[in-house]
Amino acid sequence: MAVERSMAKRPNWSSGFAFIMATLGSAVGLGNIWRFPYVMGQNGGALFLLMYILLTIFICSVPLLCELLLGKQMRRGVIRSYEKINKKFSIFGWLCFATSIFIPCFYFVVGGWTVNYIFIYLFGTIPVNEISQATFDTFAAQPVAPLIMGIIFLFLCAIFPFRGVNKGIEQANNIIMPLFIIMLFFLAVTGLFLDNSIEGLKFMFQPNVENFTFKTVLTALGQALFTLSVGMGCLVTYGSYLKKDSDIIKSSTLLIIGNTIIAVLAGIMIFPAVFSFNLEPSAGAGLVFITLPKVFAALPFGQFFGLMFFVLLFFAALTSGISLLEVSIAAILEKFKISRKIATVIMSSIILIFMVPTTWSFGPLAGYKLFNMTFFEIMDFTASNILLPLNTIILCVVVGWILKPKMELLTNNKKFYDVFTFLLKFIVPPVLILLMLFGLGLV
Ligand code: PHE
Repeated sequence: MAVERSMAKRPNWSSGFAFIMATLGSAVGLGNIWRFPYVMGQNGGALFLLMYILLTIFICSVPLLCELLLGKQMRRGVIRSYEKINKKFSIFGWLCFATSIFIPCFYFVVGGWTVNYIFIYLFGTIPVNEISQATFDTFAAQPVAPLIMGIIFLFLCAIFPFRGVNKGIEQANNIIMPLFIIMLFFLAVTGLFLDNSIEGLKFMFQPNVENFTFKTVLTALGQALFTLSVGMGCLVTYGSYLKKDSDIIKSSTLLIIGNTIIAVLAGIMIFPAVFSFNLEPSAGAGLVFITLPKVFAALPFGQFFGLMFFVLLFFAALTSGISLLEVSIAAILEKFKISRKIATVIMSSIILIFMVPTTWSFGPLAGYKLFNMTFFEIMDFTASNILLPLNTIILCVVVGWILKPKMELLTNNKKFYDVFTFLLKFIVPPVLILLMLFGLGLV
């Protein structure tokens, strides 16, 4: 009876659109904007893109569908979903839960940096042409300011799961994602009008066989998994709010296409501008917080474009952040039968505690290293190179060999189902083991 009641209370997405916006919101994040375009340019351009698309279709779509299937079938968060297969498997759910704490610890610090840059461009606290490497370095090295920005970011992410699936998560994504796409188009088209923009497009797209190696393939695979938010139960959790008759193949296809187009557009927004001002392309923090401000300094209406870019980056990080939080919130809410609001407060507080040393990795704790990595780098390395691939391998083995998902939950096409289960059982796990060894520097 108690179980029945909690089943009845489980929220559902109110439309297919809401589900797509939420999953796209999770997928589109810092990974698309500050990593994908650069990695593509560095690793063979159009060849990388082709490889990335093939790997996404034949490898990543399999665990992606698995996560959605698991959620849709069990209608539970990640810990209870595994438990429902076998009590002993709850450990696998806890591993995903741990990953959903590790990632925000560094991801939200960067989210805090975007908040800081929004303030700078909005209020003009530093004149646009004086924003430099030093601006970033001095800010990130302080003990208090970046922590406050990180807390603001965490708070803004937490409001939505706190309010619930429909009133919070769904509404946020329904509004933010379309707005994000419009802004991205606007900035990408504007970038193309700059002098010399063709050089930026060449950097990204020109096929370059020399830069294309076996490592490129594994890099493309790692990028595809991270950017699609596979490997920590985000899609199990979002999938658990699906109605029984929803078509997950259609949604996954839209998700994959949308996410790839957005990553490519992000490159078109960034690189023509970087090249037209003769700047060096780079990845990560250096690209968005140091190189791009130089572009904005040189552009007419630089303050406006700078503000727009950082709001865009903030939106991307925010919708991913919401999905990261929802994994652990949904998991403990069911596991310990507590209210959503209490679960949100508990998870936000735990993440906040871990965010202190990651934030200080750029300042007071910069000198404290383990295996030559700062605390920030350790969290990133452990989550991206160990936990995400490990969770994905476990997912494929458990779903493929033990759960054996019901065909009708996925498709009514027997051939498709056979190909899917073959890839799931025999191809994807060994490929992911290779990826993990690569991530650990063992191949
Ligand atoms: N997909 C997000 C990005 O590209 C990051 C993310 C990873 C979000 C894993 C949720 C889970 O930035």
